[in-house]
This record gives sequence, C-alpha cells and structure tokens, in this order.
Amino acid sequence: MKKATHNSIFILLFLIIFGCGKENNKQDISGKMENVHTSDYGVMPKGDSIKKYTLSNKNGMKVEVINFGGIITSLTAPDRNGKYEDVVLGFTKPEGYFDGNPYYFGALIGRYGNRIANAKFTLDGKTYEINKNDGPNSLHGGKEGFHTRFWNIEVVKDAKFPTLKLSYTSADGEEGYPGKLTTTVFYTLTDDNALEISYEAETDKPTVVNLTQHSYFNLSGNFTKTITDHELQINADHFLPVNETLIPTGEQKAVKGTPFDFTVSKPIGKDISADDDQLKKGKGYDHNWILNGKGLRSIAKVYHQGTGRSMEVFTDEPGVQFYSGNFLDGKFDTKTGGKNEFRTGFCLETQHFPDSPNQPSFPSTELKPGQKYQSKTIYKFSVKK
Ligand code: BGC
Repeated sequence: MKKATHNSIFILLFLIIFGCGKENNKQDISGKMENVHTSDYGVMPKGDSIKKYTLSNKNGMKVEVINFGGIITSLTAPDRNGKYEDVVLGFTKPEGYFDGNPYYFGALIGRYGNRIANAKFTLDGKTYEINKNDGPNSLHGGKEGFHTRFWNIEVVKDAKFPTLKLSYTSADGEEGYPGKLTTTVFYTLTDDNALEISYEAETDKPTVVNLTQHSYFNLSGNFTKTITDHELQINADHFLPVNETLIPTGEQKAVKGTPFDFTVSKPIGKDISADDDQLKKGKGYDHNWILNGKGLRSIAKVYHQGTGRSMEVFTDEPGVQFYSGNFLDGKFDTKTGGKNEFRTGFCLETQHFPDSPNQPSFPSTELKPGQKYQSKTIYKFSVKK
C-alpha cells in the first residue's frame, strides 16, 4: 500500500516536471488559451517528416492541418444533437496525399486556382508557357502546384483564436510562372465555429495569382453518402458557361430559368440531371458563379436536413467554383469506410474567375511588384433545429 502511494507521488512529480506530451493547451502569460496541438503525421518517401497541427475551440470543434500542401485533413462540425463529426473528405493514410492527391483533397491551391486555357498567357507583351496538367490546359497551378509543396507553419502566439501562419515562397519560373511569389495563409478557428482563411502574396516581377482552398464537404459526416440531398443557396444572378475543356466561353449568363439558379435554396440533386448542355460539359456542376455584391459578404449557404448541419460561406472574392464532386471515382477509401464515390463531396472554392489572364473582361488577377495580394474566406458552421 505504502509502496503504491510512493509510486503515485513519483509519477505525479514526473508529469509536473516533464509535462505530458507536446500539447500547447495551457494558459500563456497574457491569459489566453493556446489551443493548438502539434503531432507527427507521416514520413514522405524521401524521408521528410510531416507535422499535423490540430486547432480546437471552446466548443470542441477541431481543424487538422498538415504542412504538406497546407492540407486540411479533418474538420469537425456539430449536428443538431451537438455531436461533432468530421465533414471534409480526405485519405485514410498520409500516402494518399503524398502520392499526388489527384482530387486535391483539402489543399491550398496556387499559384493559380482553376484553369488557364492552353497553359499560356501574355503579360506586358511577353508570353509565358506554364505546365499543362489537364488536357490542353493548366489546372490548379500545374502538376506541382502549391498543394504538393512544404509550407512552413508557425502557431501565431498573440492571436485571439487559435491561428496558424503558413508560408511558402514559389521561385521565379516555378511551373512556368514569372516572379518569385511570397505567399502567406492564415487559418483561424473562432469560437463561433468559423474557419477563417486569409491569403496574402507579394511578387518581385509581374505575375498572376488566384489562391483558394480545395476542401470537399459532406455535412452528413458519412463519406459514402452522396451530397445531392444537401440544400444549397448561392448569392449569384449569373454564372460562367464553359467549353468542352471547362474554360469559360466569356459569356456571363443569367441563372434565371436554368439549372444553375441557386438564388433560392434547393437540393443540389434537384436539377443536376436536367437535359442541359452546360451540365453535360461539367458532368454536373463544375462552374464559376459570379457573386453578387462586393467586399467580405455572405455568398452561399448549405444545409443538410438529416443532421441539421449548416455551413455559410463568406468571401471578398468575385467568384466561387461550385464543384459537385463529379470526378470522384471510387478509387480510394473514405475515412468512414467504403470508397470515395461519385458526388460524395462538394467544393465551394472562392476565387477570381478561371482563365482570367486570357480574358480581359474578367477582373484582373495580375499582381505587380509593390502590390499586396489579399483575400479572405470564411466557412462558418451552425445547426438548424
Ligand atoms: C475543378 C474540377 C476538378 C477538380 C479537381 C475543381 O476545382 O473545378 O474540374 O476536377 O477541381 O479535383
């Protein structure tokens, strides 16, 4: 008995002196809680080790981010019974991300999110050929876009809410783009269950930039279920029709009277199989909506009736790519069993319009030395009873 008491005191002292793990979950001198936990995530084939950063808020919501691709590997949200479940698609094993991540699950996308026609553009009279990785076009920054790069991650010490600062410097000429681009992204998890993402970039030569986040959501929390029952509303009166290779034709078409009308909330699946040339070209929804209004504003709402989960998206970008997961093809396991099948996740990628560098009537994506690229998007989760 006496020996057991001695042992317990010894263990207690050991824990007090050496701590119990790498958890940063302690009160700092300014009195704030640091709710960021760092752990080992995996080892790349060439031996580089990858870290995972878990942000938690006071409600118990958690967001997990890795320093490979700035990828969000997990994000939990409450259902109407207060149960927090993972609502973003991802791989079951780190190798899924390291071996090319063909769906761009959860990744930061750059230097140019979405497509650039024929993988070229002209700036100040000079034509740049960038890497093709999508038929004749360049998609999401090329084969080794920002989703395949190591991001330096720092935990921001004096932030009001748990915040990560991710930095990546893209060399002049990387993937064919001109200019050394210094990129910083902040991920913040607030106490009202919002993930705020702020993007910043600067260049030393004129270039083009369009940064976004490629998380796929399935608010049911069951990744084997399709997302066609989710109700979606997008604050956009117009969208951008595309050609066969998903490059905007340049037309800005009114959504009224088309399957692209989400001005009033409706299930994603309601019109997705309509006999419509644009839906055929996208194999479903894979288009950019021209968002109404300007500045940081609410642009979309999604509601999953089965669980009561709802998500609202805010951005200061002019467009959003609503992609209904039409290229998910069941090749990989999901985190909740089964395979990542057709339309088991959707993306709302806030951004400037696709192919802007070749379409002078679109808002410009050019960044010049001395200018600062800044953009912000918020994904906010709540419950409808
Ligand atoms: C694009 C899709 C593409 C997908 C890749 C989306 O942003 O709009 O066309 O297949 O990314 O996973």
